[in-house]
Amino acid sequence: MSKALRSYKGMAPKLGANVYIDEACVLVGDIELGDDASVWPMVAARGDVNHIRIGKRSSIQDGTILHVTRKTPAKPEGHPLIIGDDVTVGHKAMLHGCTVGNRVLIGMGAIVLDGAHVCDDVILGAGSLVPPGKVLESGYLYVGSPAKQARPLTEAELKFLPQSAQNYVLLKEEYLQEQASA
Ligand SMILES: CC(C)(COP(=O)(O)OP(=O)(O)OC[C@H]1O[C@@H](n2cnc3c(N)ncnc32)[C@H](O)[C@@H]1OP(=O)(O)O)[C@@H](O)C(=O)NCCC(=O)NCCS
Repeated sequence: MSKALRSYKGMAPKLGANVYIDEACVLVGDIELGDDASVWPMVAARGDVNHIRIGKRSSIQDGTILHVTRKTPAKPEGHPLIIGDDVTVGHKAMLHGCTVGNRVLIGMGAIVLDGAHVCDDVILGAGSLVPPGKVLESGYLYVGSPAKQARPLTEAELKFLPQSAQNYVLLKEEYLQEQASA
């Protein structure tokens, strides 16, 4: 197993087909990545006290931190971290125990806290903070700290969301080739 992938209590990260994991990131424990996902340098993801799921073609960009909250009698599910398909997580974001739908862009440096739910087709502006349990409605731009609904997404932005994911699928293919030829 690559040093980037570590097991915890017998659980090791599981990768779909053609996933790119940069050797300078750390993924620990109960984490599953869908086909064509990518994880870039200096990402730290800890699926120790709960699980992390990352969907197909989603990219987790440099310096992002992913973590979860443990199960308790009061909250038997705790807070796993679920990221859908075709999601772009920008550089240095922090996603903690939240749910992110499909075709979402999480802006650089954004913070999303436990129990928050970012629905499908949302852009979260750079540097925004989503408080615990807040639901971001599908089809809107949210910005600020705390994040507020700014406006509906344009047709161009809605088309851009899967395109952004695809751009990273193409980029990670180049990195996979580089790894293979090293
Ligand atoms: C929010 C964003 C999508 C721009 O949306 P927009 O509607 O085109 O916004 P504009 O640039 O026209 O700015 C509109 C207002 O929002 C403000 N604004 C822009 N981005 C903002 C942000 N991230 N947080 C808070 N306010 C923001 C602008 O200052 C402006 O304010 P004003 O009206 O008082 O002057 C963009 O700034 C952003 O954050 N993109 C995320 C990029 C990213 O992180 N990508 C991931 C890397 S791969």
